[in-house]
Amino acid sequence: MAKPILIANWKNFPGSLKEAEFLLKELGKRRHLYKKTILSIAPPLPYLEVASERIKGFAMLGVQDAPLVDRGVHTGEVTPEIIKSFGVKLAILGHSERRAMGETSSTIWKKIRVALKAGLAPVLCVGELSRDAEGEHFEYLRQELKSLLHGLSRVEAKKIVIAYEPVWAVGKDALDVIEPVELTQTILFIRKALSDLFGRETAEVMPILYGGSVDAVNAGFLMRNTGIRGFLVGRASLNAKSLSQIAESVLER
Ligand code: PGA
Repeated sequence: MAKPILIANWKNFPGSLKEAEFLLKELGKRRHLYKKTILSIAPPLPYLEVASERIKGFAMLGVQDAPLVDRGVHTGEVTPEIIKSFGVKLAILGHSERRAMGETSSTIWKKIRVALKAGLAPVLCVGELSRDAEGEHFEYLRQELKSLLHGLSRVEAKKIVIAYEPVWAVGKDALDVIEPVELTQTILFIRKALSDLFGRETAEVMPILYGGSVDAVNAGFLMRNTGIRGFLVGRASLNAKSLSQIAESVLER
């Protein structure tokens, strides 16, 4: 069976380099556990250097966004080349917190292409703002996937990881997460939408993760038989003990 995937989205935490170093040291103590998974850490950019040193051998490095431009003179921007020089392998794109700050689908569309061209695997966040009894959110998801992924080749599609993050479940309490039965249905639906875009063979190999208030309490039941390959973890990834408990849960699936 393919290894489960865990992506730690540190957001804009911890608040200092010293705390980041401490967290990385704590994570390293469970390296044997993480080697059984595919773990990626996406820290704030100023921590890339120290993270790239400390996670060697048990995790990959990610970023929480990708540049919109791959070359030229752009004050305040970084280029894929700079990011890649730290050994970064993937970029979380379209996160709901970035969209809430004004990022549009067309910007995300461009960033997916910049990331792919640079050899960074896009981790594309999709998810409805709310759910209703009529199932409108399924159509919303279908449109979102279509508008962001159309025009990509099957070879490119296979480099993309989908992170299903229902916006209503991000940053909430552990017990506010999606019900496993709803998660199962949604993952099937996403897989079908990917299959309509790229064909069944491609859709079947594209990993789909779940994100939104994942923690040590709910990781086990969210992972079991729901069709996900792993998790995109926010707050709980800032606590070494919680992250190791989540890793244990995904390995028990
Ligand atoms: P959360 O964040 O786990 O804190 O809900 C998930 C995310 O923002 O990717």
